[in-house]
Amino acid sequence: MKIIEFNSHKEASEACAKVLISQIKSKPNSVLGLATGSTPIVIYQNLVEAYNKGEVDFNEVRSVNLDEYYGLSGNHNQSYRYFMQEHLFNKVNIKPSNTHLPNGTAQDVRKECSDYENLINDIGGIDVQLLGIGLNGHIGFNEPSDYFADKVHVEDLQQSTIEANSRLFDNIDEVPKRAFTMGIGTIMRAKKVILLADKNKIDIIDKVINSEVNPQIPASILKFHPDTTIYFSR
Ligand code: PGA
Repeated sequence: MKIIEFNSHKEASEACAKVLISQIKSKPNSVLGLATGSTPIVIYQNLVEAYNKGEVDFNEVRSVNLDEYYGLSGNHNQSYRYFMQEHLFNKVNIKPSNTHLPNGTAQDVRKECSDYENLINDIGGIDVQLLGIGLNGHIGFNEPSDYFADKVHVEDLQQSTIEANSRLFDNIDEVPKRAFTMGIGTIMRAKKVILLADKNKIDIIDKVINSEVNPQIPASILKFHPDTTIYFSR
């Protein structure tokens, strides 16, 4: 695991955007693993700018997102599908049929999970997975636990995650208590991982770096990944 420090969130985001752009240039039909939340917004702004300048073409790109709230449809303004449409998909020439997130309102939850895991494998696996990190060390919605979950599953969100995410909802009762998420194994099977973290994550980044690999700090598993870089801004 490599760590690169930047002086600002803007610079760190630009560096992450460059990784994604060069990935697309070297393999136009790359499978990008994408993330939502406050952290990646500037990366997506950079991708849209590069697209508008003709520097990158999303025509053949495939995307799979890390997670989606259980119970929210893609039209809900706090769903991750909605976030991705707003911040990236509606603004570049990615084909809608090539963009994938779990369906938050799927009736058959087990089938949705196995279908999503199979889809990721069937399209060739993830070339680059973009990650943020929760204050509790979660990646995707893999919360601290006694074990590392392998595949796509539905996770019960910790109270601290519900509280952190409530800033985007009218009130905390509206925050879903569960979410579909790629498993730790799904993430670890990505060929390359880039994790962007701002200074508000300094304590958890410090723990990831200095602790043993441990499912109570889910991101610590990334130390076993052969090509992970943390883009950290102070
Ligand atoms: P944030 O969320 O980017 O909104 O801080 C990151 C995460 O919870 O993984």
